[in-house]
This record gives sequence, C-alpha cells and structure tokens, in this order.
Amino acid sequence: MSVTLTPSSIASEQRSTVRCASCGATLDDRTARATCPNCGGLLAVEHVAPKAKGAALRALFDDRLGAASYRGSAADRSGVWRFRELVLPAARPEEIVSHPEGNTPLVAREAVAGFAGVDALRLKHEGHNPSASFKDRGMTAALTQARRIGARAVACASTGNTSASLAAYAAQAGIPAFVLVPEGRVSTGKLAQTLAYGAHMIRLRGDFDDCLELAREASEQLGIYLVNSLNPFRVEGQKTIVLELLQQLGWESPDWIALPAGNLGNTAAFGKALREAHALGLIDRVPRLLAVQAAGAAPFAAGFADDFATRRRVRAETAATAIRIGDPASWDRAVEAIRFTQGHVVAVSDAEIFAAKRVVDACGVGCEPASAASVAGVRTLVERGVIGREERVVSVLTGHLLKDPDAALAARVAGGLGAEEPLTRAEALGHLERVLSSSH
Ligand code: F0G
Repeated sequence: MSVTLTPSSIASEQRSTVRCASCGATLDDRTARATCPNCGGLLAVEHVAPKAKGAALRALFDDRLGAASYRGSAADRSGVWRFRELVLPAARPEEIVSHPEGNTPLVAREAVAGFAGVDALRLKHEGHNPSASFKDRGMTAALTQARRIGARAVACASTGNTSASLAAYAAQAGIPAFVLVPEGRVSTGKLAQTLAYGAHMIRLRGDFDDCLELAREASEQLGIYLVNSLNPFRVEGQKTIVLELLQQLGWESPDWIALPAGNLGNTAAFGKALREAHALGLIDRVPRLLAVQAAGAAPFAAGFADDFATRRRVRAETAATAIRIGDPASWDRAVEAIRFTQGHVVAVSDAEIFAAKRVVDACGVGCEPASAASVAGVRTLVERGVIGREERVVSVLTGHLLKDPDAALAARVAGGLGAEEPLTRAEALGHLERVLSSSH
C-alpha cells in the first residue's frame, strides 16, 4: 500500500469522544477539561476505529517511515503523529504542535542484558526525544489540544521532566506556561531547561503531591489548561512509545515491557496502547507490563501485593527524584493496565537503581536514575524466577543521562572514578603511562 504523506492526509474526519472512567459522562474531543466536570474522575479518549485493521493498518504505519518521514512537515516526521489515527485523528495539520518527537532508538547492549540476567534485552531510549525524556510524546498531543481549545495558558506540577517538556512545547505554541516544582528536589538539567525555554516556574515548599494538588486547584480557579499526565491527551501521545517499539520489532510482541512508575500516567498509557493494538489486530499477543517503583515511593507495588484491594499513598523518598511520588494520580487506569496485561509491579532499592544506572551508563548508552529502575526491576524479577532468562524483554529508558549530571558524577565518584586532583603536564603523562601499562 502506498500512502502520500502530506499534511492533508491527516485523518481529520475521524472523530473521538472523551469519556469519564468513573461516572461515564461523555465530552466532545474539543473539551478544555483535563478531568471530569461532573465528578472529578479521570477522562479517557476513545477514537472511532480507523477503517484499516491488522495488516493494512501495520502497512499504513510502516509506509509513513518512507521518504516523506524526512521531507514532510514536522508532524509527518514525528514518531507520535505517525500513529495519528490512534492519537488525535481530528487534529488539523495547522493545529499540531510538533518538534518533531519520537523515533527513538531501540538498542541492545550485552553488558546490560548480562546484568539483568536475560539473553534478549532491548533498551527503548526515550531520552533521545527533543527535551530528552518521554514526556515530549504526551506534550505534543497536549499542546495540540491546548491550541485547538484556544487555551490562554497551560500549567503542570512536575518532578522536572514534564516541566522541561511543557516549557519547550508551550514556547513553540506561543502559549504562556506555568510549572510547579518541589523545592530542592528537581535535578539541574531539568531546571535549566524549564527556565531556558521560558516557562514561569514556581518552586513550592512541599513535595510533588502537594504541587499536583495546587496545580489542579489553580487550573480550576483560573481557567488554565492542566497538562499533567491525568490529562487524557497526554496519555494518547505516550501510547506511541509502545506502538513505535512494536513497529521496531516488526510487530512481533516481546514477552515483557518494563518501565519506571511514579504518577502512573505512563503505565496507564502503555496498557491502553496494548489494549488498542491488540483489538485492532496490530499484534496477536499482548506483552506483560512490568511497572517498577523506587522502594521509598512504592504505593503501587504495595497495592499489587494485595491485588489492589485498597488505594494507597505514602510519603515518598528516593534519590530517583523523577519518581519521588507518593499519591499517584493515574492509579485506577494503571491497575487496569496491569490486570489487562497480566503484568507485575515491583519495588527496587535506590542502591539497586544506581547499580543498574552504572551499567547502563558505562556501556555508552546512559540514562537518568529513575530510568534505570526499568533495568533493575527486570534483574529482580529474573532472580525471583518471574521472568525467564530466555524471555524477550524491552526496558524503557525514560530520560537522558544529562538530565541529572550530579547523579551521574556521584555514581562514578562513589566507584572511585573522577575524584582525582587536577595534574600538571608531567604528572598527566606519567599517569597515562601507568594506566596503559596496568590495563595490559
Ligand atoms: N521516568 C522519568 C524520567 C520521569 O520523569 C517520570 C515521571 C517517570 C519515569 C514516571 O512516569 O509518572 O507516568 O509514572 N515524571 C513526572 C514529571 C512525574 O513531572 O516529570 P509516570
């Protein structure tokens, strides 16, 4: 099948509905609400199914990887809008705010596979997005929606990556952006990006959960469009991490997809992507999701242990600041994702996260601390015999190493590297000789 990829090929006649998961209320796909206006529940976007299914839909998506993906509009070149029928089909080309984003690599590194204890481990590196985290995939959809509804301003609470991404996409869209971040707990790279891209940043005395509560209140009172991951359009964009990795695997499902879990927006998005990919015949087997939390911020892992009998919240503490979240907003839809995929949730210690990070960094790939949880979690489940050594696993690296340069340096210095005093020219030559002769 041959598809001409011009902006006009965007499937704008295909409509979507926004439905409340709690009370069932339905809204138009041009809604400015991030949560249900009746009951405050979580909203979900439902698309009219595209006409093409199964092999024809796979061919449509594969075709868009052709020459037009180099020469077309930003949306044509985007690893999010390539799947536009499953993201926001009603968006018109001129409404789409795209960098472009996505098209991130899927890599295999023996050292990381050996560390995790599986033969076939791949790393889906979302740190290769324009603002260096997976958040750009949801943000292109959320800012497109902000433009569609004529939002006067956009806002989010964040542990740093959402704020950096929001700042970048709001700058592109020309919409003022406000971000609320927990004081003292956001890494240098993320703060620098947020400020440089021009967002108004408020550092709150409190943690992420306090920031989110305030962001919800402020958006309600001031009519600012809220783009945290409880926003249903964020979820639609983030689904494409899964769609793209399935496409990179030739639409052959792996056995497991592992990801770090904090506010649970991404876990929810992965579940929805797999449900839809299966229903549309893109894949014939559903991979199991593995959501990995930091032990000091693991209410979802605790919930999994009692089959999600009760919703839990904790006071969160972990050096993986991106997932330092105690009261995850997307709890219900993440439970659905784990149940639908017969998935698993596990908590790993900060020491385990940093051990995994050192291996990912040292093979030249690199990631921020929270991202390494997805490798640490696989290792733990292999040790427990839940994941078999021969199973095919994709671990999602959610953010780039340079997001948190302090953590990267600290991890190496703790291992005895990089802590040396500066040397003179003569000392440096002697040092080089000694290192070379000792490495033979
Ligand atoms: N990994 C990274 C690097 C993150 O920044 C986040 C979340 C997650 C994983 C967890 O994803 O919240 O959907 O379960 N960061 C948010 C932020 C909270 O504000 O940047 P989740």
